[in-house]
Amino acid sequence: MPSWTKLSYYAAILSGIFFFSAALYFADKMFQLSRQEVDKSVPEYRHHFVLVPEEVDNDYWRLVEQGARAAARNHGVLLEYAGPKQANVEEHLKRLEISAAASVDGVMTQGLNENQFTPIINKLMEKGIPVVTVDTDAPGSNRIAYIGTDNYYSGFIAGKALLAGTAGPTYVGIITGGFQSAHQQLRVQGFKDAVAEESRIVITAVEESRITRINAAEMANKILTEHPETNAFFGTSALDGIGIAEAVLQANRALDTYIIAFDSISETVDYIQRGIIQATVIQKPYDIGYKAVETMAAIREGKKVPELNFTETKVLYREDLHSMPEALFGGEGR
Ligand code: BGC
Repeated sequence: MPSWTKLSYYAAILSGIFFFSAALYFADKMFQLSRQEVDKSVPEYRHHFVLVPEEVDNDYWRLVEQGARAAARNHGVLLEYAGPKQANVEEHLKRLEISAAASVDGVMTQGLNENQFTPIINKLMEKGIPVVTVDTDAPGSNRIAYIGTDNYYSGFIAGKALLAGTAGPTYVGIITGGFQSAHQQLRVQGFKDAVAEESRIVITAVEESRITRINAAEMANKILTEHPETNAFFGTSALDGIGIAEAVLQANRALDTYIIAFDSISETVDYIQRGIIQATVIQKPYDIGYKAVETMAAIREGKKVPELNFTETKVLYREDLHSMPEALFGGEGR
């Protein structure tokens, strides 16, 4: 091959490689932005943050998103809200890896379990991308702050509410979002500790809903079949109470079953109104989202922020419904 042909041959290969890598790089950026819901109402933004929940279309997480978007508008933040369509840890972790590759300005996510989430949280921090945990903390990681419910305490108050709302031998089935999720473990533990002092309370079984209403109903039905003495339930994630209520109604056991749920999404509130669910532990999802973005903006502006930021949690009963401001539903609460 004459040398000029050789040269242009190499030049062609090199420019091919260059354009291919550039395409990959920009495709990754565009993929990150186009596939996600981006808040375009912030025309001139100072920061680009990503909020990664365990399930994007979950009613509870949509409220967190609403709060986060409101804060984003107030703080000049371009917010991406991205994560698994249905809860899936591998996809959740992949989304965090993508955020690391895209060098965003801050990541807000759950520390669902220390083993799987600490490495990626620490990787983001080492890359100079601050991480704030929301809803579920990973205190052993290098995350800068946690914003959310005190999950142990929220389980504990559920246990106390069950003690106050029942009399005589009470056999409790627990439906929990996921055995591996730190916040679910804390809620179950808090509940168990609160009822431990009373020998009339017996926990018949703990089953996992994998945060779907259908699994919650199936598991509640399983508990009722395998432990027919069960006359109370505690659901520790947002859709568990609804699933439990369906199973209990199906089994014709609504009149003699005490149900305490988690969160105040509209179906749960309906069941409370109808007297099928007796109480629910409420969180402040809107505030969690709002404070997460606010805190991340403060971090980016070099301010010192508190490490633990617990949002309000309390037990809600039917009698609270009429006097309850919208804020308690986690919606328009600001
Ligand atoms: C939890 C969230 C969870 C949701 C599932 C809520 O109670 O705080 O972490 O994703 O329930 O429905």
